[in-house]
Amino acid sequence: MIIGILKEPQFDRRVALLPENVKTLVGLKAEVIFEKDAGERAFFANQSYIDAGGSVSERKELLERSDLIVSINPLGKAEIGLLKSKQSILTAFSPLSESDMVKDFVDNDITSFSMDMVPRISRAQSMDILSSMATVAGYKAVLAAANHLPTFFPMFMTAAGTIRPSKILVLGAGVAGLQAVATARRLGAVVEVFDVRTAVKEQVESLGGKFVEVEGAKDDSSAGGYAVEQSEEYKQKQQQLIQDHAKKANVVITTAQIPGLKAPILITKETVENMIPGSVIVDLAASTGGNCELTKNNEIIEINNIKIIGNSNLANEMPSDASKMFGNNVINFMKLIIDETGNLNLNFEDEIVKGTCITHNKEIVNERVKLNK
Ligand code: NAI
Repeated sequence: MIIGILKEPQFDRRVALLPENVKTLVGLKAEVIFEKDAGERAFFANQSYIDAGGSVSERKELLERSDLIVSINPLGKAEIGLLKSKQSILTAFSPLSESDMVKDFVDNDITSFSMDMVPRISRAQSMDILSSMATVAGYKAVLAAANHLPTFFPMFMTAAGTIRPSKILVLGAGVAGLQAVATARRLGAVVEVFDVRTAVKEQVESLGGKFVEVEGAKDDSSAGGYAVEQSEEYKQKQQQLIQDHAKKANVVITTAQIPGLKAPILITKETVENMIPGSVIVDLAASTGGNCELTKNNEIIEINNIKIIGNSNLANEMPSDASKMFGNNVINFMKLIIDETGNLNLNFEDEIVKGTCITHNKEIVNERVKLNK
């Protein structure tokens, strides 16, 4: 089988597979071709792909020759139209919201895999690109905040006087939130955390954060580690507490989301108006509407001397390690779908394969996508 690695669009500096991943694929008896300069903006030169056993190709030729085309961002409609029946693509294309693309894959008999659909089970942790990119985002969010903040993060006792540490409020303690807590603590800030899931209290405390509890949260033990929608009374109590804590914070990092829903508004305009001048909000949920009422996706805005950062592709700002994590996730998944002859062999009895494969043999094979139609 020929595996082709695409160069990502101009806005994304990452690459889906690294030279070290090419070596692994060659070891699995696959032939690897890569689009010229695919890894260049993540600092992986063409020559390092060649040294790993890959060969360079122009994009058009790669699209024609590859049995399996690998990328982070999906192909555009025009290029999907160029694919031949029985070709496969592996990318991250949000099939639950991209129903037109799913239809194109079915109509053109393309086998598609979407890495954002890897089930969140322990065996699939090493393939979970959402966790990988959330790790990068949580880390980068803190650094972005520190860059824009007019004060230090750590406490300093200097000859010029004592500098008090910054206060960071993190809303949502999933993968991104916990990484933000760890990073802010390493920089010496005082960190407070809210989450509707009280189960994360211990994790927050083990990282040195203080968990702020709102009483009366709904039981979420059957939601597979995700949050559930809360009652109106709970939301009002939470709103008040968040406002009280945000008023005293220098940085607020918001990461709250409930799968499949628009991001909940946790920071209102009024809360922003009451914050300390010079404070910074980093809203990681910007792409799904934002946790702050005023966030603008992919913009930095300033209102009443408060900066609101709505960057929804922070992984792009750390392209080498973000690509490394993405590539390792992809390779771990590929090991499940490539047989000993180096060809695709799909075992739909395996829930990871079944959950990640979206279309095959002119049909939607993914149950969640089928139900979503
Ligand atoms: P996750 O699902 O692991 O964590 C979300 C957390 O928010 C959960 O712990 C949940 O209980 C909590 N939460 C939900 N509703 C809440 C509420 N009303 N109040 C307080 N906490 C609440 O998600 P993950 O992977 O950590 O991602 C977090 C966010 O970051 C998502 O919106 C995701 O789209 C975004 N993201 C942004 C990136 C960027 O570059 N800006 C990159 C990767 C992820």
